[in-house]
Amino acid sequence: MSVSDWDAEKYTRVASPQQEWAEAVLGRLELRGDETILDAGCGSGGVTELLLEMLPRGTVVAVDGSPAMVEAARKRIDDPRVSFSCQDLTELELAEPVDGVFSNATFHWIADHPKLFSRLLRALKPGGRISAQCGGAGNVAAIVEALRTVTAEAPFRETVGTMDEPWNFATPEQTRSRLREAGFEVADCWLEERRAAPDDPQEFLEASGLAAYRERLTPERFRAFSDRLMEVMGWPESFDYVRLNIEATRPKEATNYE
Ligand SMILES: C[S@@+](CC[C@H](N)C(=O)[O-])C[C@H]1O[C@@H](n2cnc3c(N)ncnc32)[C@H](O)[C@@H]1O
Repeated sequence: MSVSDWDAEKYTRVASPQQEWAEAVLGRLELRGDETILDAGCGSGGVTELLLEMLPRGTVVAVDGSPAMVEAARKRIDDPRVSFSCQDLTELELAEPVDGVFSNATFHWIADHPKLFSRLLRALKPGGRISAQCGGAGNVAAIVEALRTVTAEAPFRETVGTMDEPWNFATPEQTRSRLREAGFEVADCWLEERRAAPDDPQEFLEASGLAAYRERLTPERFRAFSDRLMEVMGWPESFDYVRLNIEATRPKEATNYE
């Protein structure tokens, strides 16, 4: 799974469900307001902006692997308290460790969770906490099923038929054990069901779930692909999601993680 470049403009237009889900995760951060927090997978910056509002005396390190998303976030947030960086989180390098890590709607795009968690642990100061939410086991089951049908059909089979599904929807059990192996103390990992009812379901699907397919298809073929997917699903007005929540801490004791 390489990091896909996203349609940042379209994502910004339709990402209100992700933004709404992020608010609950931001509410768990328990910030004083002067910390430095990593936004791991900042996207086009909508949620980064909310995080920044919670840090009147603090700073945000906003990292994303999509050049278009980082560019859009940079344009959106003109504030010296935010530094932007285009990096793959599984290779993350920060100049200084951060007080906390926040992440929304990103980890399920990353195949190697052990590597991700070990990089995030290294990025945190001892005692620092990670609060995150991403797609978990059972997420977007109807979309996954429709994708299996449509990617096997002509004319899409040739281009996306052999493609691995681009998501890693982990269970809380897998995640607890991967976090512990990376060196975290796990406070909690749990699943919750959510429903997204966007104004334009097809545009929402194209801009979020289908980012990895967009890269492999011409714009016309991509529209035909999303038309067919919507048709197979019966032109839904909403999508069912399962979110995986993560709360874990880097232990305070001296460690040999580096
Ligand atoms: C659905 S968007 C979420 C953006 C933002 N956090 C939000 O809630 O609106 C997922 C983001 O994860 C980023 N991403 C996926 N894999 C990544 C990786 N390996 N390293 C860095 N960013 C990654 C994508 O580029 C994309 O911007």
